[in-house]
Amino acid sequence: MTDEMRIPDSIERVLLDEETIAARVRELAARISADYAGAEDLVLVGVLKGAFVFLADLARRLTVPHHVDFIALSSYSRGAISAGAVRLIMDSRISITGRHVLVVEDIVDTGDTLDYLLRTFRARQPASLRACVLLSKPERRKVKVEIDYLGFEIPDKWVVGYGLDYADRFRTLPYIGMLKREVYG
Ligand code: PRP
Repeated sequence: MTDEMRIPDSIERVLLDEETIAARVRELAARISADYAGAEDLVLVGVLKGAFVFLADLARRLTVPHHVDFIALSSYSRGAISAGAVRLIMDSRISITGRHVLVVEDIVDTGDTLDYLLRTFRARQPASLRACVLLSKPERRKVKVEIDYLGFEIPDKWVVGYGLDYADRFRTLPYIGMLKREVYG
């Protein structure tokens, strides 16, 4: 399949292609593997749904033993009733108390979701708690959050692919593309 065939009409342009993403994921995995060398009980917690692709690629590049778990959160920060409110929809299944926890997120936008998650997890007394995030939009930040491992800073545009969606579409595009303005209006 050619690249042209895989780029839907809704995509303005490719922001990060497959090779660029893969190279960065390899770098992040190498750093994380070095930092956690010798650490027992590392748990990666992916934030559904967006992080599932990033977590799958990152985890398979790690050279340290680890467990994989997921959490699902819902944020109201896009529009609506209570801006900034985050709700826990599905909790992690592994107990994180006393374990080294690495939260894996696809994107930090306002920071509300990661802030909520880190506060919630900190209260459970993990041995350590860090965040690995593929994309960050610094222009959109409302809450200051610490990102220990960051893939890319990107401009304030709607991006899809590699796990990220618009109305639950485009998640499985292999690259990260900017959506055309008229699509999200
Ligand atoms: C996205 C993303 C983060 C959150 C970041 O999730 O995966 O969890 O938004 O935004 P914030 O920094 O403004 O809180 P989304 O709510 O789109 O759900 P999804 O992962 O299921 O697509």
